Amino acid sequence: MDVQSIILAAGQGVRMHSKLPKILHPLLGKPLVFYAIEAAEKVTHTSPLLVIGHGAEAVRQTVGERVRYVLQEQQLGTAHAVQQAMPLLKDGPELILVTYGDMPLLTSETLQHLIQTQQQHCGPITMLTVQLEDAHGFGRVIRSANGNVQAIVEEAQATPQQLKINELNVGVYCFSRDWLLLALPQVPLSPKGEYYLTDLIGLAVAQGLSVAALTLAEPHEAIGVNNRLHLAEAAAILRRRINRHWMLNGVTLEDPDTITIEPEVQIGQDTIIAANTHLRGKTTIGEDCIIGPNTIIEDSQIGNRCQVFASVLEQAKLEDGVDVGPFSHLRKGAHCAQGVHIGNFGEIKQSYLGPHTKMGHFSYIGDATIGANVNIGCGTITCNYDGTKKNHTEIGDEVFLGSDTMLVAPIKMGKGARTGAGAVVTRDIPENALAIGVPARIKNINISE
Ligand code: UD1
Ligand code: CA
Repeated sequence: MDVQSIILAAGQGVRMHSKLPKILHPLLGKPLVFYAIEAAEKVTHTSPLLVIGHGAEAVRQTVGERVRYVLQEQQLGTAHAVQQAMPLLKDGPELILVTYGDMPLLTSETLQHLIQTQQQHCGPITMLTVQLEDAHGFGRVIRSANGNVQAIVEEAQATPQQLKINELNVGVYCFSRDWLLLALPQVPLSPKGEYYLTDLIGLAVAQGLSVAALTLAEPHEAIGVNNRLHLAEAAAILRRRINRHWMLNGVTLEDPDTITIEPEVQIGQDTIIAANTHLRGKTTIGEDCIIGPNTIIEDSQIGNRCQVFASVLEQAKLEDGVDVGPFSHLRKGAHCAQGVHIGNFGEIKQSYLGPHTKMGHFSYIGDATIGANVNIGCGTITCNYDGTKKNHTEIGDEVFLGSDTMLVAPIKMGKGARTGAGAVVTRDIPENALAIGVPARIKNINISE
């Protein structure tokens, strides 16, 4: 049986005190709502329906085409939100899954379990419940003496006796579509002037139908983000979940509480991640690497057997056996071929460094193509910017750049060429030639001269 998911996300999120819609706040580098979308995508074949209202335009721009949108112009309650999707449900799948856009920890495994329970159940609803010490803000699940679910009572309407119940409504349900379409218009207006989805439970029971309930094994899956405190709690749990995954899959994390690995990151076997390391975005790391301590890597590809020590990499690529740091910064388009050594206080941007090239100390390489086995002496700088545009530097294989060489781009150095310490190179240097001085003169092209 196929399933259509509906994600409710029209609420304002006032308690975030933010210009940004709540569901777009980043959680481990990804907008909150993406977690709900991805969990739903894993258990359905049709794209989710996202009910939006507050900040609708911003949500559409960020989320794009991966969902279908349902606009709820006025937020008249959770049942009203689902009602807005009714025209799109008629010819769709037979089961309807309802989740919230602000509940990022709910797993696709739980959703799958909920759907399976509903498939095996004769009644029209399976709901998700949770047992929590702190019930604040949740609807209470009312069961009969024989344990059958009877109703959900919202906190504002609950009697003191009902308030003591610690089985709570998560707000996530799997419905039979045909029943839902008939029942939704019957939901009464609540005393607060809203239409509550929770009233469907009592409605089904009044029709003599049974409501199944699945209780969360991991209660923190039910954490909804209403303020920035919740956001931090959710981040901490997610971080632990991701770290645990990597530790159980062959990656050593030293001091995992200080390590943040975002959800899309991939890491190979026997890699060690040391303290205070943040791996972000679409980063991939190979096997047998040592990364950190004190390292930030974002949207970068790292090969096998690399070491990155107390450094920052953004949109960079390291082939196998590269070592970087401490205190180096590889920016967008930095590409180090196999065996490259980058020591301390180096910066590389939009440049290729060929195999086994070494750049040990205090250098800036920007907009350059550098060959294999080049020695980039201490303090070498590509002067790539002339005040209006960026210019390219090309360095052949086996070039030796003396300490403090300035390469005033655009410039080319042929294979095996050398510069003396402090050379300011303003003209191309042929293969095997030596350039010295300021501005650099070319020596010994022909030693006999
Ligand atoms: C709801 C449940 C409550 C449950 C709790 C769990 C109802 C009436 N109550 O209460 O039983 O314990 O969730 O967190 O359903 N939304 C819309 N449009 C609306 C109203 C809400 O899209 O008109 C969305 C919100 O953006 C949010 C979700 O629905 O993602 C839940 O709404 P919220 O107002 O937070 O419901 P609660 O009062 O928490
Ligand atoms: Ca809520």
